[in-house]
Amino acid sequence: MRRKLIAGNWKMNGSLAANADLLASIKAGLPGSACDVAVCAPAIYLAQAKAELSGTAIAWGGQDVSVHESGAYTGEISAAMLRDVGCRYAIVGHSERRSYHNESDEVVALKASRALASELTPIICVGELLAEREAGKTDEVVARQINAILNVLDEESLKSIVVAYEPVWAIGTGKTATPQMAQDVHALLRQRLAAKSAVAAEKVRILYGGSMKPDNAKELLSMPDIDGGLIGGASLKASDFLAIINAA
Ligand code: PGA
Repeated sequence: MRRKLIAGNWKMNGSLAANADLLASIKAGLPGSACDVAVCAPAIYLAQAKAELSGTAIAWGGQDVSVHESGAYTGEISAAMLRDVGCRYAIVGHSERRSYHNESDEVVALKASRALASELTPIICVGELLAEREAGKTDEVVARQINAILNVLDEESLKSIVVAYEPVWAIGTGKTATPQMAQDVHALLRQRLAAKSAVAAEKVRILYGGSMKPDNAKELLSMPDIDGGLIGGASLKASDFLAIINAA
């Protein structure tokens, strides 16, 4: 049985004061240990997350990681630095990075490897654009994206990843994949994982992301291959985030 994971992706939102309020409310309202919970904060606030969340059941993570280990890469943040401020997770390959920063499948795979090498759990995002879904190419696109990961990770590393299926047309739009649409892609992803390692396929958590909200979370999370959520907008409001955690 895979333990569900609800991870917030704050994106480029927050401030010291707003984060303190949000984290205090989440901590106060957190139910018993029914599922794993994490917040992926802007890098500049990860030290604050560490200060506020150490010793609680809430983990924290970065939203990206450099392909480089260290050195003359102005503005970059390494996996070792994320680990240094106590991160457990790092999102890699979010569609906003793939599209606004031209991250290829290969770059995303390298970032996942860097994260793993620093003992971070990469949350590897995959998902199709609206035009790709409409052209009937969803399976082809997500298979290509996951294959790039399977090509570089060995079986042992594969067991430590988290995958997030985020249909790009559902992110921040209020449109959600139906539970069955999401389940179909999750099952395909698990099948791809199984082709490399049956053990990893059984173990790896596949999150759904894209306008997951309190009112649709329960249905999505009841599907057999949906093992949690990567939550954008609704993770910025403690009551919504807590409602999703409760649904898990
Ligand atoms: P959303 O974002 O929940 O606001 O749609 C999800 C994500 O981009 O991770």
